[in-house]
Amino acid sequence: LRRTLMHTSTLFHKTMTSQVEQAKDAAALRAVREHVYDGCRLGVGSGSTVVYAVKHLAELVTTAGLNVTCVPTSFQARQLIIEHGLHLSDLSQTPELDVVIDGADECDPQLNLIKGGGGCQLQEKIVAACGKKMVVIADYRKKSQELGEQWKKGIPIEVVPMAYVPVMNKLRSYGLEPVLRMAQSKAGPVVTDNSNFVVDAKFTAPHNWELLETKLCRTPGVVETGLFVGFASVAYFGMKDGSVSVL
Ligand code: 5RP
Repeated sequence: LRRTLMHTSTLFHKTMTSQVEQAKDAAALRAVREHVYDGCRLGVGSGSTVVYAVKHLAELVTTAGLNVTCVPTSFQARQLIIEHGLHLSDLSQTPELDVVIDGADECDPQLNLIKGGGGCQLQEKIVAACGKKMVVIADYRKKSQELGEQWKKGIPIEVVPMAYVPVMNKLRSYGLEPVLRMAQSKAGPVVTDNSNFVVDAKFTAPHNWELLETKLCRTPGVVETGLFVGFASVAYFGMKDGSVSVL
């Protein structure tokens, strides 16, 4: 009986995983098809859904012979652009972007986002701010009615290393529950592409996200937060049934 139960649970996990991956793929394909065009200056986000977007982008660029300039939001995105033979640029050469395609950890109906599950929130926000349009791609687990409903880890906050203790104390005084993000090995804290730490600030009730964002960014030692208010223009969610829901 134990073996049968284990087999059933493995099968369930595999089905779930492929459903989620298919959903990411579907959202990414739709966003690339609808928003990338010849001459486009594109911000390339980070995370596992973006991997699908870059794959579809490379196919489109090859088949349709498009000229697309790509600006990465992380080391991961930079590697993806290079590996797929795409045209790599940066914000010093391409400071204005037509479209930014990026993933999210959670997205509410007003297109407020929590990002930074992969610790790339600082560069992601800088690149998003340079874009005329931010297009979010995600699977169905990221769509919610209220931030915090799906993503339980809190708001990723990028912090200057020497300030992480005072910043965490300040976050507690704001009613948040800060946790210093540790590397998987537990050998030390996660260090971002910009050599900072990440503090995940859990919250128990919804906030006025814009006010919270302002308060967080005014806290000395905070470099940037994963709260994206007023950035996204549209979101594509791959759904369980294979369809794509657009917000
Ligand atoms: C990284 C991010 C990612 O876009 C976000 O975590 C979503 O990732 P995934 O597509 O793997 O679910 O913000 O900092």
